[in-house]
Amino acid sequence: MPTVSLTVNGNSATVDVEGRTLLVQLLREHLGLTGTHVGCDTSQCGCCTVHLNGKGVKSCAVLAASCEGATVTTIEGLAKGEQLHPMQEAFRTHHALQCGFCTPGMIMSAVDMVRRKGNDLDEKTVRRELEGNLCRCTGYHNIVKAIQAGAEAMKGA
Ligand code: FES
Ligand code: FES
Repeated sequence: MPTVSLTVNGNSATVDVEGRTLLVQLLREHLGLTGTHVGCDTSQCGCCTVHLNGKGVKSCAVLAASCEGATVTTIEGLAKGEQLHPMQEAFRTHHALQCGFCTPGMIMSAVDMVRRKGNDLDEKTVRRELEGNLCRCTGYHNIVKAIQAGAEAMKGA
């Protein structure tokens, strides 16, 4: 059984995994970080999005055994204590969630979007970049608005 040592949200972890174990399983089942959700079996919904070595990935499409030495950030690692990350705050103030199931993945994708595209995101860019994240509850209007506001707020963060 492979052993994987990695850093998750700033903490070191060493986990015995099966070869078939996915990163999302490592996070949820081995480390108890259940903010990362599983919404599909086909790598389409984006609910499982985390940052792997600083880049947004769908953690249901990554083998845990391939993450030796990696640095992972999950939704649990975004806030600083009681202070929400600006993107989390933007989702809250813009009513960008209903059931919240897709929200962790949306927020992790949004933060990655800012890293790749910058803080001034127009609506068209946000909508195009969000195509890998599905929300089953809403129209996407408030999600798009929240991401634009969160991106702006991240300028000073
Ligand atoms: S659970 Fe990973 S994309 Fe749906
Ligand atoms: S808020 Fe319910 S799935 Fe998106």
